[in-house]
Amino acid sequence: MHRFHYQQGQLFCENVSLQSLAEKHGTPLYVYSKATVTDHFTRLDAALMGLDHLICYAVKANSNLSILATIARLGGGFDIVSAGELYRVIKAGGDAGKCTFAGVGKTRGEIEYALQQGIYCFNAESEAELVFINEVAGSLGKKAPVAVRVNPNVDAKTHAKITTGKSENKFGIDFDRIAEVYARIASDMPNLVIRGLQMHIGSQLTSVDPFVEAVRKVSPLVAEMKAQHGLEFFSIGGGIGINYRQCLDSGDASWWEQNSAEQHPLTIQKYAESVVPLLKPLGLRILCEPGRFMVGNAGALLTQVLYEKRGAAKVFKIVDAGMNDLIRPTLYEGWHQIVPLKQPAAGETELADIVGPICETGDYLAQNRDVAPVKAGEYIAAMSAGAYGFTMASNYNTRPMPAEILVDGDQAHIVRERQTLDDVLKGEHVV
Ligand code: LLP
Repeated sequence: MHRFHYQQGQLFCENVSLQSLAEKHGTPLYVYSKATVTDHFTRLDAALMGLDHLICYAVKANSNLSILATIARLGGGFDIVSAGELYRVIKAGGDAGKCTFAGVGKTRGEIEYALQQGIYCFNAESEAELVFINEVAGSLGKKAPVAVRVNPNVDAKTHAKITTGKSENKFGIDFDRIAEVYARIASDMPNLVIRGLQMHIGSQLTSVDPFVEAVRKVSPLVAEMKAQHGLEFFSIGGGIGINYRQCLDSGDASWWEQNSAEQHPLTIQKYAESVVPLLKPLGLRILCEPGRFMVGNAGALLTQVLYEKRGAAKVFKIVDAGMNDLIRPTLYEGWHQIVPLKQPAAGETELADIVGPICETGDYLAQNRDVAPVKAGEYIAAMSAGAYGFTMASNYNTRPMPAEILVDGDQAHIVRERQTLDDVLKGEHVV
């Protein structure tokens, strides 16, 4: 259920008018719905009820402290990929003991920090990393809990840049080598404690089939490793895709469930119905690491139309949000629904490109799109921007990072201030 809808001719997030937020805080502006995050967490948690499970939210999707605090209060754990993300989780009141640490390139400083904070598990991606974690743990007089990430060589059938579970991707250790790696940990790495086994095949999966294929393929290995080394958990990674096409709420939950099922074959029910029965016989704690599912449809990027340009080939609507604010359209051909903050007359559209102010041809939010005929000065929203939106934003073109707002019912909280130019230049020196 997404809490963005038209009401009295205006787009609202929960009970707050987005036009009022854009006017008050300026644009570009990220706005998140707390109720949507809570709803998504609760629905996934309920769907996995048949299993001993822990949802480790993938912090990289949206690491705003208030989003992390919301998930921590719901009892969630976190999947982190850097010391910085762990620092954020702790600042937000999250429990380090519910954190898994993923990523192929952990540094000594990061491993030490994570050990000192007492994280739940390192998800190791190579033998060299395991050797190194063993050494770092030994030098601190600690034992490091580890899981090995298996690369199951399963095609997630998603965008090439977010596919991770094929042998040619840099992630994990080849399926055939896993048993040997666990044996080596047990015999040669006294400062490691085997805790689990992990996999993650890719992001924005829109079919349940690759998940099922991967779980079917890896489960026998998990059972074998459990028997030999006493595993505590199996993490099935993240990757649950979201519906980028249908982002507004009609106000009727059953309507939304039906329509999302029709337009988007991977519902959370289908995901759980398919994987829970396969996982249950393992008798292990099951971890999952959703990022996008939790926050993607909970966020929108508001932007103002600055100019219109009618070129020989195209109409361009030039807006004040650029690829530095939302890079998904140009990096992954990501499709974000574009809607005006003032409800348009039904059927009135115009074919246009929505482009940003950055000096790059790839700077667009949408291309060749039928959009409402918005004029200069009016506002639009790029929907489903809650995941991999702000977290992938940059200061390119010396553009300050946008502000972020968390809406909770009729309250709108500034959860991150817009950067000032002095913030952007902080730490630079003229020599
Ligand atoms: N676990 C691991 C080990 C991951 O690498 C990822 C995402 C996740 C979990 C969470 O995946 P999710 O549930 O969000 O699909 N920037 C790209 C997506 C990159 C995903 C990277 N890894 C995008 O905007 O589409």
